[in-house]
Amino acid sequence: MFGIILYACVEDSVPEQPVPGRWYTAAQVSDGESSYQGHCAVCHGADGSATAEWRTPDANGVYPPPPLDGSAHTWHHPLDLLEQTIVDGGAKFGGVMPGFGTVLDRDERRSIIAWCQSLWSNDIYERWKAIDERE
Ligand code: HEC
Repeated sequence: MFGIILYACVEDSVPEQPVPGRWYTAAQVSDGESSYQGHCAVCHGADGSATAEWRTPDANGVYPPPPLDGSAHTWHHPLDLLEQTIVDGGAKFGGVMPGFGTVLDRDERRSIIAWCQSLWSNDIYERWKAIDERE
């Protein structure tokens, strides 16, 4: 919680240049953190770690929300697909995640992805980047 308040206060002074080695800026990461906490944290966890049991469906065959912090398979998906998942939610794949297409605009969606990726190690990020560039 303190982190969110702190980010909100220093937002104007957050640099606009890309974070070294990454596609996004520090400003996107701080914008993304507040949107993430408002829309996604309830299911994916405040720190993006959701649940370690994300591979195990419940009694109705419904999968829990996976971690977005680099510990699950989110890094297997290129940027466009991650963004599309936020737009459409999981219904297309028989999932239960709601779509945010009418709630979040493109900048907000990309900032949220930036914040999630800021949690990833360089190793995971580089593996994602190779997949993203191939698609
Ligand atoms: C109501 C709970 C819920 C909310 C709110 C929610 N999600 Fe999800 N999310 C899920 C579930 C459950 C899945 C697994 C697929 C499914 O069932 O739709 C998922 C899957 C995903 C995936 C695919 C992950 C992967 O490894 O393939 C991404 C990316 C994602 N969510 C991002 C977000 C973002 C960003 C937000 C906020 C804008 C968000 N989710 C809000 C429940 C939620």
